[in-house]
Amino acid sequence: MTIEAVDYTTKIPNNVNLAEDRQVLRALEGWHPGYIDWWKDMGPEGFQDALVYLRTAVSVDPKGWAKFDYVKMPDYRWGILLAPKEEGRTIPFGRHLGEPVWQDIPGEYRAMLRRLVVIQGDTEPASVEQQRHLGKTAPSLYDLRNVFQVNVEEGRHLWAMVYILQKYFGRDGRDEAAQLLQRRSGDADKPRMLGAFNEATPDWLSFHMFTFFTDRDGKMQLESLAQSGFDPLSRTCRFMLTEEAHHMFVGETGVGRTIQRTCEAMKEADIEDPNDVEKIRALGVIDLPTMRRKLNLHYSLSLDLFGSEVSTNAANTFTAGIKGRFQETKIQDDHRLENATYPVLKLVDGEIKRVDEPALTAINMRLRDDYTADCQRGIDRWNKIIDKTGVAFKFELPHVGFHRLIGEFKDVEVSPSGKLMDAAAWERDKGQWLPSKDDGEFIGSLMKPVTEPGQFASWIAPPRVGIDNKPGDFEYVKIAA
Ligand SMILES: [Fe+2]
Ligand SMILES: [Fe+2]
Repeated sequence: MTIEAVDYTTKIPNNVNLAEDRQVLRALEGWHPGYIDWWKDMGPEGFQDALVYLRTAVSVDPKGWAKFDYVKMPDYRWGILLAPKEEGRTIPFGRHLGEPVWQDIPGEYRAMLRRLVVIQGDTEPASVEQQRHLGKTAPSLYDLRNVFQVNVEEGRHLWAMVYILQKYFGRDGRDEAAQLLQRRSGDADKPRMLGAFNEATPDWLSFHMFTFFTDRDGKMQLESLAQSGFDPLSRTCRFMLTEEAHHMFVGETGVGRTIQRTCEAMKEADIEDPNDVEKIRALGVIDLPTMRRKLNLHYSLSLDLFGSEVSTNAANTFTAGIKGRFQETKIQDDHRLENATYPVLKLVDGEIKRVDEPALTAINMRLRDDYTADCQRGIDRWNKIIDKTGVAFKFELPHVGFHRLIGEFKDVEVSPSGKLMDAAAWERDKGQWLPSKDDGEFIGSLMKPVTEPGQFASWIAPPRVGIDNKPGDFEYVKIAA
């Protein structure tokens, strides 16, 4: 077996030679039935018997690792796939810079690593739970297939983290793996671990915003764990990132197609003013100001996932060589950061100011800045779609202090343009900036399923190309299989 090839002869497809790792194989086989129960209980509702045109990883070769075919989701071959080992890889940052990477966990970093793996692992099933009702209102079979692809891959990401837990953390790992199947998104008693993963995903615009903004946080976290000195974690994250790219695509193009359709409908109806909301909504499309409010909400919720701007925890995981920076190996500095500083936005004497903090404790802030830059590139592409239609409107990311629950700005109110506000002014104005109940109801009213191949709901444009280059009328999901 070459490292790129995946063994599909075992019940759990893998490229980690599970057949000879009896103990881990048994642990994973013991976990498998609970996972399937969870999937049937909490996975996509109403489509467990549908045949879905899905990609399954058959190798970890970046060129052509996937094979497309019709699959019933509970029969999806969830597997353990690690990117190929890089011979001679050394730890790229922190106290152990330049030492050979670890194939096992150094005892002193066990607790730290376990926490990171469990938090990452917890987000994966959470999003499946959040998205489980979307199938009933999909705007097309193409979109239906896309949400299911994202869902099965989030399921596989859970497997990826559970493998690390089962193989490297013994009994503790088994306990954590079991608990990952017990928490539930939004549950009062057993919620998922992070805020954004307990929010509802009530409609398809929310889903596309979520995959754009929140999956992108996931991408940034995976990027920084892909730098880890603990090589198995690095390798598993590197392969997860190749899957994650599709989730970004689903979010960006989903919102992009929604923008496209709105602008086209406005042009067809000779509506110039993007704020002529009533007339625009009457066309069966989502007005751009509502999309802006959704953007503000999802961006601010996702910023909270980066944690506090200044954090000794983040400094510790960096110095330990466990969690690096975005594209660590491409950064030109000493990769230890003992004397470096990094500018952080803070509240100083009632004003928002840029303050130089030790770069080590500002690791979260730096990752969040890289995230913001990555988001901005997508926003620019959305604005280009609007520009091309000639509609006068522009999306902007709100200020990082806007609508925050975690970090430096959690106790103050900040407008999208970055102005500090008192509580009364905030109450008066927030309706312009965050989605209202009425916005949600309007979007909800458009969520009617379209299941005819090649047809799309009124509010979203068709994609430019099909998945796996399939023609426009391809039947991506055979619902009544
Ligand atoms: Fe994921
Ligand atoms: Fe994802």
